[in-house]
Amino acid sequence: MAEDLEIVSGTKEEAYQSIIPQIRGLLEGEPDLIANLANVAAALKEQFGFFWVGFYLVKKDELVLGPFQGPVACTRIREGRGVCGAAWQKASTLIVPDVEKFPGHIACSSLSKSEIVVPLFHQGNVVGVLDVDSDALNMFDETDQRYLEKIVSLIKIDQ
Ligand code: SME
Repeated sequence: MAEDLEIVSGTKEEAYQSIIPQIRGLLEGEPDLIANLANVAAALKEQFGFFWVGFYLVKKDELVLGPFQGPVACTRIREGRGVCGAAWQKASTLIVPDVEKFPGHIACSSLSKSEIVVPLFHQGNVVGVLDVDSDALNMFDETDQRYLEKIVSLIKIDQ
């Protein structure tokens, strides 16, 4: 496993294309879910400098905070609550260009301005979400959606 990332400073597309094989390498041969989520969060933080990037995992009827990079965050989110809970309920990616315009958005930090939440699936069920926050408005689009969905699909859920 490579222990250093090669960080590129090109377009968003180029950045994702560079980081995906490196994430694949980080995940290869490591069966532990928490270790893998931690490294994916770190790789995304290092490549893109996102304000907050991390995972919430479904535990009973809530999402519970998992591995992340960034400021401290709220630990529990109910299904349907906030952007994360809504993405879980809808079982689909949500892109929020301006969090203040999203009804029920949970403000873990007032500095967060836009957000994308991508569900993690196992055997057809949502088992967690990847949440990425930016301190700039309008930061996420279909390119992020496409590549982040690809990245979460690389994470093996069963341990
Ligand atoms: N803003 C999220 C909560 C998680 S934090 O951003 C890390 C939401 O509305 O679900």
